[in-house]
Amino acid sequence: MSTLKAVRGTRDLLPPETALWNRIEATARDVFARYNFGEIRTPVFEDTGLFARGVGEETDIVSKEMYTWEDRARAQSEKTQSLTLRPENTAGVVRAYIEHGLGESGLLQKLYYIGPQFRRERPQKGRYRQFSQIGAEVIGPPSAGSESPLRDAEVLEMLATLLDELGITGWVLELNSVGSAADRARYNEALREALIPVVGQMCGDCQRRAETNPLRVLDCKVAADQPIIETLPVIADSLDEASGAHFAAVTAALDAAGVPYTRNHRLVRGLDYYTRTTFEFTHGGLGAQNALLGGGRYDGLSEMLGGPRAPGIGFAIGEDRLVLTLLAALDQKAAPPQVADAFIAPLGEGMNAAALVLARELRHQGLWIELGEGSFRLKKSFEAADKTARQIVILGEDELQSGILTVKNFSTGVQTKVPRGELAVFLSN
Ligand code: HAM
Repeated sequence: MSTLKAVRGTRDLLPPETALWNRIEATARDVFARYNFGEIRTPVFEDTGLFARGVGEETDIVSKEMYTWEDRARAQSEKTQSLTLRPENTAGVVRAYIEHGLGESGLLQKLYYIGPQFRRERPQKGRYRQFSQIGAEVIGPPSAGSESPLRDAEVLEMLATLLDELGITGWVLELNSVGSAADRARYNEALREALIPVVGQMCGDCQRRAETNPLRVLDCKVAADQPIIETLPVIADSLDEASGAHFAAVTAALDAAGVPYTRNHRLVRGLDYYTRTTFEFTHGGLGAQNALLGGGRYDGLSEMLGGPRAPGIGFAIGEDRLVLTLLAALDQKAAPPQVADAFIAPLGEGMNAAALVLARELRHQGLWIELGEGSFRLKKSFEAADKTARQIVILGEDELQSGILTVKNFSTGVQTKVPRGELAVFLSN
């Protein structure tokens, strides 16, 4: 019989690596709390229309990568509904913002999320079909200051702080502005015209995009097309005064805060909802999939989804890529092995219940305890203990009666008799 395996593009995360995932998530939660963000958890699947309208029909995500199915009707009166595993979380957050009338408070909503996303992409290092994002969104009515360039700068400064606190060095913040919808329409026209004489020499995707959405030509990765793309107009020249001033205010605040960035004129991002500020943090150690995270402003998204005017800005970090970067940077040998404080070895099966009681006592006092098994010979208990704990506590009939336990420390080799009442303190030192 063939054995079953995890589906292509998905994977199991196992200890000890999961400890690193937990540390990353704990650090992110801690940083988000200091910036006054609260957690939002939206469903993993949504109505397909949310992504078609929010992310955009013409994007790679919606046109090729979504896991979509027709949900069966349970009764004759029910209609079937097209559902999709979320490929990203911004559309879901804005849907929830509208659905729960979060804008009615008149305050900025600062929301973060951590969870799985799904895209049917070609799997490779750093690119999976189920992956995890750590993201955040700042959204609210314009009267709450949601359009202010200060919000953009604060989000970017928070990301720099988070990456620094995670111990990620060598990140690069790439920054651009895709302007307002009107700026982008103007730029699309300029691109369309500039593409007419050259598009015949470009790849099939570019030829199609030149017609449907010329902006997407800038995402092209085909090597032969790059020299042509370099000659195309840049979006900075199509920004109107307000968009230009907004971008200048973002960079001025970043300069003041000492957050370094580089301008990347081609950074237009693969989702249609972006307006004005767009950004990615890249890392050289990641190879082809070098974007650690991406984000930007989406001032019209709420209205696109039928909601009130609610400008916003946010980002999502690829948690899988964060882990890859940290694992590469960790000196594996220097990483402390994950071991328990003590291993309790019952001498004989008759001591198993007493060993459970002792383990319970110590665990309640905050110790990290591995519980052995009385059917093991002492030699086998020592071997198991040496692999999983710093010390071994032997619990036989004599120890139970006298209340004096024998503890052996594996790094010093020293064996000590310890009264049961002092055991927790002794083991934790
Ligand atoms: P995105 O650029 O599509 O933006 O994804 C953000 C990050 O998720 C990427 O930079 C990458 O690190 C990670 N990522 C994307 N696809 C994969 C994959 N197949 N495997 C592993 N990691 C992946 C968004 O999703 C927007 N919702 C971000 C945003 C929030 N914009 C505004 N607010």
